[in-house]
Amino acid sequence: MDILIRSDAEGVAAAAADILADYARRGATLGLATGSTPLGTYQELIRLYEAGEVSFADSTAFLLDEYVGLTPEHEQSYHHTIRHEFTAHVDFDDSRVHSPDGTAADPWVAAQEYEQAIIDHGGIDVQLLGIGTNGHIAFNEPGAALNGPTHVDTLQPQTIADNSRFFDRPEDVPIHVLTQGLGTIQRAGHLLLLATGEGKADAIAALAEGPLTTMCPASVLQSHPRATVIVDEAAASKLHHRDYHRFVEENKLPRKN
Ligand code: GLP
Repeated sequence: MDILIRSDAEGVAAAAADILADYARRGATLGLATGSTPLGTYQELIRLYEAGEVSFADSTAFLLDEYVGLTPEHEQSYHHTIRHEFTAHVDFDDSRVHSPDGTAADPWVAAQEYEQAIIDHGGIDVQLLGIGTNGHIAFNEPGAALNGPTHVDTLQPQTIADNSRFFDRPEDVPIHVLTQGLGTIQRAGHLLLLATGEGKADAIAALAEGPLTTMCPASVLQSHPRATVIVDEAAASKLHHRDYHRFVEENKLPRKN
């Protein structure tokens, strides 16, 4: 995988937006992520759109995940969040912004339908990802099947605690979620994972330098032929090989894949 280290969160957002804008210019299918980390990237994409440098008119989007039980109108549903933070501010066709149905009578059926919708569409070209402090991606908690499809998962206490800042009370955080599986994610053509801040340093070290294990779901990026990890100095601070990654990027050296 390529690991790009930037001095701060703004640098991470600019680098990620550059990559995503290139895909959008080709009308690609974008896998979008929620959470606070990609917000700067979305703001930069909105800026590029307003400057006339990119259009999303030919793109389709698939979200990574959704809380079970939250209606699309709920402020913390990912259906609402992605529109509020990004797609409603650019020329994305709203009917082409897809997410798992958190209000389906049977969430397992909704999971299968979402998996099938991605397949029927022809897959995702580039998948944006954040990372949880416990190494989760989308809502694949440690223990998720390494090659699993979109499914229903139960959040770990750490993730509920991390995400409770978005809700009035910790007990308001839904316990169940619908999430693209690690197999779904790995079928995307290009994985683009972002992390900022010291709180993500352990997870980034585990993702890049630990074993490939379901105990760190993000470590599946190690087996993907095209993965780009963009981190700030703080998130990179526990990488033993960070000087090597800087050297490779500065000198435009080829990587193994
Ligand atoms: C949630 C999302 C993940 C996201 C993670 C980290 O659990 N389902 O997709 O990566 O939060 O969020 P943040 O970027 O706010 O740290």
